[in-house]
Amino acid sequence: MTQTLPPDSGQLFRHPLDASPLTAATGDDGTIAALLGADGSRFAVDDGIPDLIWPRTLGEAERTAQATYEEVADVYDKYIHLTFDTFNTDETTERRRMVDRLALSPGQTVLEFGCGTGRTSALIAERLGAHGTLLLQELARPVLVQARAKAAKLATPSHVALANGSYLPLADNSVDAVFHFGGINMFSDIGRCFAEAARVTKPGGRVVIGDENMPVWLRDTEMGRVLMNSNHHYRCPVPFEHIPVEARDVACEWIIGGVFYVISFTVGEGAPYADLDFQIPGRRGGTHRTRYYGQLEGVTPEAKRHAQDQAARAGMSLHAWLDRLIRTADGTPDTDTETEDKNGKGGGR
Ligand SMILES: C[S@@+](CC[C@H](N)C(=O)[O-])C[C@H]1O[C@@H](n2cnc3c(N)ncnc32)[C@H](O)[C@@H]1O
Repeated sequence: MTQTLPPDSGQLFRHPLDASPLTAATGDDGTIAALLGADGSRFAVDDGIPDLIWPRTLGEAERTAQATYEEVADVYDKYIHLTFDTFNTDETTERRRMVDRLALSPGQTVLEFGCGTGRTSALIAERLGAHGTLLLQELARPVLVQARAKAAKLATPSHVALANGSYLPLADNSVDAVFHFGGINMFSDIGRCFAEAARVTKPGGRVVIGDENMPVWLRDTEMGRVLMNSNHHYRCPVPFEHIPVEARDVACEWIIGGVFYVISFTVGEGAPYADLDFQIPGRRGGTHRTRYYGQLEGVTPEAKRHAQDQAARAGMSLHAWLDRLIRTADGTPDTDTETEDKNGKGGGR
């Protein structure tokens, strides 16, 4: 039976490049035939699945991943247990362990990108209940069709779309959590993918992303060498450098035999808070900020020693003594209030 896109999909989905709104174009049969961007982009809807993949012509890495999973779609569910059996682990237990990290509550909205055939989707849905929403996205249509069929049997309403995990077709702050497992090692732009996950997640929401990684302490074991030889993805690094500045309470653990990493974090706003302006007690003095921005051109070691001696004799930190000296030299009033550590917090002395 041909499926149709729910009427509210025009509001749900956004342009994958810049999250601008899309409008629904209705076909002759009255169903949504395409989603249209203000820039003239037309995202076709085929059998109820909008194709929101961006860029429209994928690079080599994404083309290869897409072709691979289109090809293995029919046998994916049959053989995936081998990955878990290799390490004498139970698939459902390991997947639930990842879902735990999402810290979900009933009624929330969760995006799973690269959802494959939907093997974690039901485990996410069981935390969301009938009032939650599950958004399932994939690069390869045949696996997404399977995920949709499984999701249709769940109590949680779901929406599916073809999408690249590095260009999420959703509005900013529109979901409570983002989940992905197993594909990110294949992504050509992992940094953009993490940034997108943080963008679409509401402040306080959770992001959980994992994939193969042979940790450095296991690389020279027989198991490490043999597995890295069979599957080069075990050689992929944990993408710590791509974790966004908005990430808070970041954790990384290795699961499934200790050879798959799972990064999880809570999404905050901007970089974390730090008080850079308290007076640091001790001989150097100043604040973290004045030490960073107020560095003088290099002086000779003798001049520095002389300044240190003079400051010590005056009972002042080097910062306060220099600041006063320089301000006195050109007549600028001394506004620096440092004399002692006011809040008891110390820095490098
Ligand atoms: C190993 S499978 C994992 C599937 C599923 N997450 C699971 O745990 O069973 C990797 C999946 O990532 C998808 N994928 C690869 N690159 C992607 C991308 N750039 N955007 C979205 N999905 C991608 C593949 O199509 C494939 O279904």
